[in-house]
Amino acid sequence: MKERVKSLVKKFEARFGKSDEKLSVFFAPGRVNLIGEHTDYNGGYVLPFALQYGTLLLIRFNGLDQLRLSSVNFPYEGRIPVAESSKKIDQEWANYPLGVIQQFRPHLNGLKGMDMLYEGDIPNGAGLSSSASIEMVTACAINELYRLGWPMIELIRASKKAENEFVGVNCGIMDQYAVGNGKKDHAIFLDCDAVRHEWIPLELKDYRLIIANTNKKRKLSDSKYNERVEECAKAVSILKRFLDVRQLGQVSMADFETYQHKIPDETIRKRARHVISENDRVLRAVASMRRGDLAELGRLMDQSHESLRYDYEVTGHELDSLVEAARRVPGVLGSRMTGAGFGGCTVSILQKDQVETFRKQVHNHYMNKTGLIPSFYEGEVSNGVTSLQIP
Ligand code: GLA
Repeated sequence: MKERVKSLVKKFEARFGKSDEKLSVFFAPGRVNLIGEHTDYNGGYVLPFALQYGTLLLIRFNGLDQLRLSSVNFPYEGRIPVAESSKKIDQEWANYPLGVIQQFRPHLNGLKGMDMLYEGDIPNGAGLSSSASIEMVTACAINELYRLGWPMIELIRASKKAENEFVGVNCGIMDQYAVGNGKKDHAIFLDCDAVRHEWIPLELKDYRLIIANTNKKRKLSDSKYNERVEECAKAVSILKRFLDVRQLGQVSMADFETYQHKIPDETIRKRARHVISENDRVLRAVASMRRGDLAELGRLMDQSHESLRYDYEVTGHELDSLVEAARRVPGVLGSRMTGAGFGGCTVSILQKDQVETFRKQVHNHYMNKTGLIPSFYEGEVSNGVTSLQIP
């Protein structure tokens, strides 16, 4: 990390020049969700962990009336007058920092000009929360530069709001929360209704978590994500007439069995069944981790994928082919899509001595099936957002 920061400082100075103003550096990880998909905006449970990959931000006040936004990963260079910085612009990545800054604006004694350089190694649009990582690194930086003293949960809420209101994706709280509260060697068991978490030790012993990227391009705001959010709201509006619930996350499997016939539309019924059964699987996954039973965790991950495939319909040919390929490899305990779906990544648990075989076999099988080349990353269970020292 030290070398990465050093080389970024050079790039920063090349772009913005040297100055006596203090330069600060922050890092926010991406995340992988082990299980509990599309449950967060339904007030359910999720079980993500923070990754070793993430976004670095170098930032300092510039004494100008401008936000100078730059990224090592994208060509766009923003020179935005402070007075005009509350508008969404035509550059996708830059709307994440701008959206977050808007959330802080009413709480600042005037927004000052800043130079900001981002650099990330999370693949974009892959369902590993590159956007939440940009949001949270920005929120953490603004909090420190302006000495606001907001607690982590407020940074998480501000980042989520930025995505909901500024970017226009009605996402839940999981990604920002996982990026904020990641802990090495632990998964985050988050109750999205109470907004409370418990860290569950994730001891992999002879197993590894492998992330495989479909490399299918997608854009969350273009996807059917918001449509699913609405379908869940419809299901709740019906179940509410029979049960004392506000959200699908509060409906038990037993109550669903009793009242599912009250939902006349089959699609809406299937969406509800996914959310309610997935919620139940998270609880069972936590119990299995506590017992150290990774085989059961793997089985639950498999079931989760099937539910996302047939009931929630957010997988598609690429994710299904990748999961199918993974499950053929000996030593794989379970495999499922992770994140919003419609492309993006899968996560699999497998024996550590099978990692190379996995890469080869899955690569070949997936390429034959889809014509696309997958990428692989080993998931290290890591810490959340943090400020760093300039070396
Ligand atoms: C995206 C959203 C999250 C969550 C997942 C699906 O990552 O940002 O809030 O809804 O999809 O579980």
